[in-house]
Amino acid sequence: MLERTLIILKPDAVKRGLVGEIITRFERKGLKIIAMKMAQLDREILEKHYAEHKGKPFFESLVSFMGSGPVVLAVLEGFNAIAVVRKLVGATNGREAEPGTIRGDYSMSQQNNLVHASADSDVAKREIELFFKKDELLSYKSIEDSVYSKDELEKMNAYE
Ligand code: CMP
Repeated sequence: MLERTLIILKPDAVKRGLVGEIITRFERKGLKIIAMKMAQLDREILEKHYAEHKGKPFFESLVSFMGSGPVVLAVLEGFNAIAVVRKLVGATNGREAEPGTIRGDYSMSQQNNLVHASADSDVAKREIELFFKKDELLSYKSIEDSVYSKDELEKMNAYE
């Protein structure tokens, strides 16, 4: 199914100069960037974003880390994009994430793990609405879209 997912390149990714490297991985995989911006997130929006973690021992530290510098937010689109992106990102703890994943290759931390990616379709919808206005989600034809119709792409996705 054609899906959209939110990624956040966390302050450690920006400060370590890994923005290009990480975005490149998503682009090379074939995911389409339909929105992207840089922002400094305040406590209010971070508390909403991480509402499910409120009360956990790492919550305060997480909110403080995520507000410690600018982040890059993007919406990626593609077939099964939510699961594909989670797979590329790797396990939460960078020390346990598989080599070949973004966290596995570049992170040694559970908290400073470079990238956030939406967990499922309900979460993706909520997170995209939290960080992006409707008119910030852009529509354009990627090379793949230009070669194949939406029907053809759906068929290819079903059989391959
Ligand atoms: P992410 O999965 O993007 O969203 C929740 C974040 O909380 C997670 O990345 C980590 O950055 C952080 N996190 C999760 N579990 C822990 C933990 N046990 N200790 C510290 N940070 C954590």
